[in-house]
Amino acid sequence: MKNHNQEKYWNDAAEKKEFPTPFKIEEFEKHVSKGMNILDVGCGYGRILNELYSNGFKNLTGIDYSQGMINRGLNEHPYLNLIKTDGDKIPFPDNEFDAVLLVAVLTSNTKDEEQENMISEICRVLKDDGILYLTDFLINQDKRNLERYQKYGDKYGIYGIFELEEGAVLRHHTEEHILKLTKNFDKLVLEKTVFDTMNGHKSNGFYYIGKKK
Ligand SMILES: C[S@@+](CC[C@H](N)C(=O)[O-])C[C@H]1O[C@@H](n2cnc3c(N)ncnc32)[C@H](O)[C@@H]1O
Repeated sequence: MKNHNQEKYWNDAAEKKEFPTPFKIEEFEKHVSKGMNILDVGCGYGRILNELYSNGFKNLTGIDYSQGMINRGLNEHPYLNLIKTDGDKIPFPDNEFDAVLLVAVLTSNTKDEEQENMISEICRVLKDDGILYLTDFLINQDKRNLERYQKYGDKYGIYGIFELEEGAVLRHHTEEHILKLTKNFDKLVLEKTVFDTMNGHKSNGFYYIGKKK
């Protein structure tokens, strides 16, 4: 199920990339309190967990399938609990967490079934009424993006998937797709925005906060 080429891409990127996707901590704090048990899925080098830690959240765990990202995270923030996983199963029991973060991770799990598996695993480890904080990319309308959606649409069978020269396959999503993926959550917040990408471009994106039904 997991795409091993993507894992290699993230390992190669581990020392080179800074992830700029904004994290709306002030919105997050409206729904999640400091003592709660929080999991960051696809935590990268732990930048968001570190921001939460600096703001008084202490019950924090991060998982990522890239050993390179985990190594960098532990090196930069040795006090964080960051764990390498296999990318399919979340290695925790049911009903373990009060909140789960998923920031800029759907974009590199491009197939519908990969994304559905990820959200269903998140649902499983969330407690009843647990919170999902989700941020990812939306379809853009500029020439550069339209050309690449067109170019790779047939190859991948989904509009919005494209390849980067540096080796990644990424996906930009429709809002309808995100709402379908999160159908087992009550939507509390869905705000569309424009943010910087890790390669210095701008992209449409969103942040979503939902409560497990
Ligand atoms: C763009 S980075 C974002 C990292 C972090 N969420 C942030 O915003 O700083 C995507 C991360 O997701 C990880 N990732 C992608 N698919 C994954 C999967 N199926 N399981 C675990 N980690 C995954 C990659 O290794 C990479 O570190």
